[in-house]
Amino acid sequence: MKRDDLNGLALGGNKLRKLGYAMAEAREVGANAVITTGGVQSGHCRLTAAAANRLGMKTHLVLVGKEPETATGNLLVDVLLGVEEIHYVEGDSYGKDSPLEEKVEELREALSARGEVPYYIPNGCRPLHGALGYAGCVREVVNQLHELNLAPDWFVVACGTAGTMLGLLLGSLLYCHGEARVVGISISRPKDFLVELLKRGWEKTLEFLGLSEDIPGGESLIFDEYVGEGYGISTPAGLEAIRLLARREGLILDPV
Ligand SMILES: Cc1ncc(COP(=O)(O)O)c(C=O)c1O
Repeated sequence: MKRDDLNGLALGGNKLRKLGYAMAEAREVGANAVITTGGVQSGHCRLTAAAANRLGMKTHLVLVGKEPETATGNLLVDVLLGVEEIHYVEGDSYGKDSPLEEKVEELREALSARGEVPYYIPNGCRPLHGALGYAGCVREVVNQLHELNLAPDWFVVACGTAGTMLGLLLGSLLYCHGEARVVGISISRPKDFLVELLKRGWEKTLEFLGLSEDIPGGESLIFDEYVGEGYGISTPAGLEAIRLLARREGLILDPV
């Protein structure tokens, strides 16, 4: 297990490697505020707020879902981190012209009108930033395993916006001669949708790097039969896995 929960800020998580690139871009354009979005229990929003604090920027969140009576979990951490403002939009509303995008646009205009310089980070970060961040993770894994005289054969990873998986595939190409394979386990979307997302992300990322190579293994390997009733809704098998890891290894997995 690669312990990216231990990566340094506000309880850790996979989004931090992506945010390294997103926040660098925010600084480059002179931003003093970031706007980002996610579910009410978004780990991405929690880490964005933490990273923004380290860089002296304010965080504005637009969360998809109902405002809960009491803040718990990641939302409670958002509050502890002193997020400047939290807006809620209802419904499954990602995508162009959605209530979410409208709210983000409204915020962007309001902040700019006040003389602030906002930088928008889409939910889960841009695919390119995920790709660069998680290629870096592969380099780290390769070095760590090298000390044990091992090399990675397979990476198994949760797949939501597919940025993490895209980065592991890129890392396999750059640091494992494309020999390490990657399996993605969907957290919400159907397999075909994710395969297409990865294909587009791969093309864009390789174009950015000036490379022309196939995805390691030739195709993206995704399993979507573990989603259960939907994103963030625990399944009995998922809860059993949490208990197993807690009792055997003392590791606490994320119920999302
Ligand atoms: C709980 C959880 N795990 C894993 C992921 C996967 O990350 P990615 O968006 O890079 O596919 C997400 C993402 O969106 C998530 O919400």
